Amino acid sequence: MSDESSGMRVDVISIFPDYLAALGISLVGKAIDRGDVQLHVHDLRDATDDSHRTVDDSPFGGGPGMVMKPEPWGKTLDGILAKGTANGRTPRLIIPTPSGQRFDQELAAQWAQDDWLIFACGRYEGIDARVAEHFSDQCEVVEVSIGDYVLAGGEAAVLVILEAVIRLLPGVLGNEQSAIDDSFAPGRTEAGLAALEGPVYTRPATWRGIEVPSVLLSGDHGAVAQWRVQQSTDRTAQRRPDLSDSTND
Ligand code: 6GU
Repeated sequence: MSDESSGMRVDVISIFPDYLAALGISLVGKAIDRGDVQLHVHDLRDATDDSHRTVDDSPFGGGPGMVMKPEPWGKTLDGILAKGTANGRTPRLIIPTPSGQRFDQELAAQWAQDDWLIFACGRYEGIDARVAEHFSDQCEVVEVSIGDYVLAGGEAAVLVILEAVIRLLPGVLGNEQSAIDDSFAPGRTEAGLAALEGPVYTRPATWRGIEVPSVLLSGDHGAVAQWRVQQSTDRTAQRRPDLSDSTND
């Protein structure tokens, strides 16, 4: 369906709206083209009223760097909420920040059920904390980090988060089993699998002198399944001991 009231609405606010152009490509771009996702990208500076289009200021209390002023965020979010709530949707306001809770597959699956996500991309040392506080009575506000490293802004994190969420929407992945088999997918461990997927192979059976593991050519589906469980368990123990279930050893 491609009408405004179906599918997922996504708003992204940034001072670098061109950064989000990559959302027009590949799986996410196709979901937008089909109308499964309605994407709206907003330039935060459009909500400024000075000639320099100022979005930042020095932090109260001192310290390094600059903080994003609350007013342009308030004006932009008021405008978005006024339009979107007319459709009877309930928004989630997502603020990417290295000091947020960790974004993971479980959050991706939860947000894939939502009908409206709004992303507020901060730069500099972050957004004045009153923005999250103020909008928490109109939105479910969540501050998330995509990992333990520091990016210059939230835009790259939004590309990551949206790809993780949108590939889980019904009809987006051609092969729905792929999402069930994913590393970290809910249900993997119940299916006897460790967190990480093992190695995969395709034709030719011999490439540059390297043979595909013979069990994969055996036609013995039970043996293949058993081999995959072992590969997944070994790889998880090796690469991600923090995710390894010792009962699988
Ligand atoms: Cl979500 N934002 C920024 N700026 N840095 C990060 C991050 C997010 N996640 C990890 N590092």
